[in-house]
Amino acid sequence: MPKAQPLVVGSPAPCIDIGGRAGSVLSLPPRGARPTVLVFLDEAPPDGRAGRPHLDAIRAELRGLGAMLVVASARGLWTFRPDDEIEVFASPPDVDGRDLERAQHAYGIAPLHEGGGALFVIDEAATIRFAHEFREAEGRALPLLAGALSIAGEALATRPAPSRASFSRREVVVGALVAGLTLAFLDACARRPPPPAPAAPGPGPFSTTVGEADVTFIVNGAPRTVRVDPRVTLLDALRERLGLTGSKKGCDMGQCGACTVLVDGRRINSCLTLAVAVAGATIVTIEGLAQGDTLHPLQTAFVELDAQQCGYCTPGQILSGVALLREGHARTDAEVREQMSGNICRCGAYPHIVAAIQRARKAV
Ligand code: FES
Ligand code: FES
Repeated sequence: MPKAQPLVVGSPAPCIDIGGRAGSVLSLPPRGARPTVLVFLDEAPPDGRAGRPHLDAIRAELRGLGAMLVVASARGLWTFRPDDEIEVFASPPDVDGRDLERAQHAYGIAPLHEGGGALFVIDEAATIRFAHEFREAEGRALPLLAGALSIAGEALATRPAPSRASFSRREVVVGALVAGLTLAFLDACARRPPPPAPAAPGPGPFSTTVGEADVTFIVNGAPRTVRVDPRVTLLDALRERLGLTGSKKGCDMGQCGACTVLVDGRRINSCLTLAVAVAGATIVTIEGLAQGDTLHPLQTAFVELDAQQCGYCTPGQILSGVALLREGHARTDAEVREQMSGNICRCGAYPHIVAAIQRARKAV
């Protein structure tokens, strides 16, 4: 077999099928999947407690990239989605060694038994966006993998395009995961030099773009610019960079609504939205709802009707309620409850919250 040429960033990812058990086939990269991190690593899937810390680190990095992990190894073919557990596609002796060798060659890496491995970030269009080679992986494969994913996340850092989007609740969940990777990829492409001449044998290609991005949006009526890592959520940018701590961090995973803010008039979970994804948008937090000393009618109704107890959920409840009133499609108490179901109140102030929204309806 002729010597493999390392792949460069921007190349199409070779599509290779690797045979597993009972005639099953694992496609590299998986067809129609979300962005994929494909790793050639001489490593069996981690098992038991020992691998757990590394697995958690890997999971966090995958979340940041919005990608799934596919590991091709003679010791097993396995996949790992950030919100799932490891799935073993095939274990020895079911892994087809010849297919694996073909895949390694197609991706331009040295045979795994010579030490090390390689990692490729592949976007949804099956284009390679980042490549990284490991060395001396023996016995340190998982920490190296976590480290390589972190390098990938940093290297794909970007200055965002001045575009914005508004999302449904479900779109936010998916979009926030994918947006960072997509935006980062666009910038990585823009910065990429022309494809180099075929490289001499040696380390594979590296993307070296590292850095934070300046993001500007209108927050509570004033333009604000923050310098953030592209993986920073809108919630963290508001709280940690702009000091707007009215938006609360409850679950940090899109389930409680405490972080609700308005983006271009629509309510979103800011914990699931990347700051770079709303560059240029108009954002309203609880601090910007009142007009001077005049409270918004819904704020007044919350006070008058005791619609808060501990108050932790209240900023999110109020902003969600403001958007609901603008949406105009929830009129009965039952409809209000349904439309506010994304905002959890652990104190159980729901009857008062519904009453406050109904009272405010008459005033707006
Ligand atoms: Fe965002 Fe819970 S903190 S939904
Ligand atoms: Fe305490 Fe809602 S008032 S969580």
